[in-house]
Amino acid sequence: MNVLLTGGTGYIGSHTAVALAESLGALIGEKTHHIVLLDNLCNSEIATVDRIKTIMGANSACALTFIQGDIRDTTLLTQVLSNQQIDAVIHFAGLKAVGESVAQPVEYYANNVQGTISLLQAMQACNVKKMVFSSSATVYGEPQQLPLTETHPTLATNPYGRSKLHIEEILHDVCLSNPEWSVVCLRYFNPVGAHKSGLIGERPSGTPNNLMPYITQVAVGQRSHLNVFGNDYPTPDGTGVRDYIHVVDLAEGHAAALNYATKHAGWQAINLGTGKGCSVLELVHTFETVNNVTVPVQIVNRRAGDIAVCYANTQKALNTLNWSATKNLTDMCQSAWQFEQSMT
Ligand code: NAD
Ligand code: UD1
Repeated sequence: MNVLLTGGTGYIGSHTAVALAESLGALIGEKTHHIVLLDNLCNSEIATVDRIKTIMGANSACALTFIQGDIRDTTLLTQVLSNQQIDAVIHFAGLKAVGESVAQPVEYYANNVQGTISLLQAMQACNVKKMVFSSSATVYGEPQQLPLTETHPTLATNPYGRSKLHIEEILHDVCLSNPEWSVVCLRYFNPVGAHKSGLIGERPSGTPNNLMPYITQVAVGQRSHLNVFGNDYPTPDGTGVRDYIHVVDLAEGHAAALNYATKHAGWQAINLGTGKGCSVLELVHTFETVNNVTVPVQIVNRRAGDIAVCYANTQKALNTLNWSATKNLTDMCQSAWQFEQSMT
């Protein structure tokens, strides 16, 4: 099987390449598989390609190719899909910073929505009709009930979230237009952690927006303390509760979704989370305990746009994909710390 990973050198794409090589390699009797990573490197680096190859090892049943390019370049995408005889696409490429999306909505819609339309045009031209798409739990907006099921109303509250929602709807329309299409939109909760090799992980440029990379940068001494955004939420310790999921579990969820998409037509939206909520302070304390480090915190005002609690109902992922998360908070904190240390 030949699979194109747009945004393949990014945080989740790189872990998925590794998980996919393992799952495809386990398919007995199949010929050699090919994973093609396409990325414009706007938020990742080319060194990741060699790191993925190192993890895959020389004996992998998968070949790996990297192509530097932009998903908005329909001509390039058409060439890649055709020349590499691509069977399916896992579409990660996109911009993902919420605050930046509020300041630069046109750039976000152009990159995320227009980029996806360009990819779909190339896929249509090459008769490739299978896609797994990186969506987000952000499409649910403020939860009306918990845990969040896939049937919960969708209402994104910023341009980033709306770009995900628009893309989901476009993909739905494509599936309605032609029953041969198969699309799985994976709604990620909060991916954290890194591969056990310490070779790949999350490397945000500039000040991290998300909690775990901020914690690791405080622990390593790059920042003095963590600002905890509010301790007056209606949660057990007053700090925000999220469903943190190990990125390796998440990556394996993509392999399961791809397997599903090769066997079933139609459009699906599926949560990828653990189903368990964890507060900011609980994550900080777990990180300190398992890694034997100190993470000073300071309570500050709530961050605009934040919700109190968010966690997944994971039943559909189990029933549909036969997938569930296996790693716990300790695994997430240990691997995130190991990666941070290996990079400094
Ligand atoms: P990332 O920034 O590490 O990876 C995205 C990759 O896409 C980067 O390597 C970037 O260079 C590339 N890219 C961006 N625009 C491109 C374009 N026009 N053409 C080609 N390449 C382009 O982010 P990630 O955390 O790996 O996220 C992957 C996907 O998952 C994104 O679509 C993101 O919105 C979504 N997502 C991420 C999270 C999260 O917390 N990390 C949560 C929910 C959804
Ligand atoms: C954010 C995005 C969301 C995106 C998700 C995963 C916002 C408003 N939402 O969600 O769209 O899908 O990341 O990428 O940005 N926190 C602190 N101090 C920090 C950082 C975070 O206290 O320095 C707290 C937050 O208030 C929250 C929790 O930690 O309670 C998790 O924050 P974060 O990692 O940014 O994820 P989300 O807010 O869930």
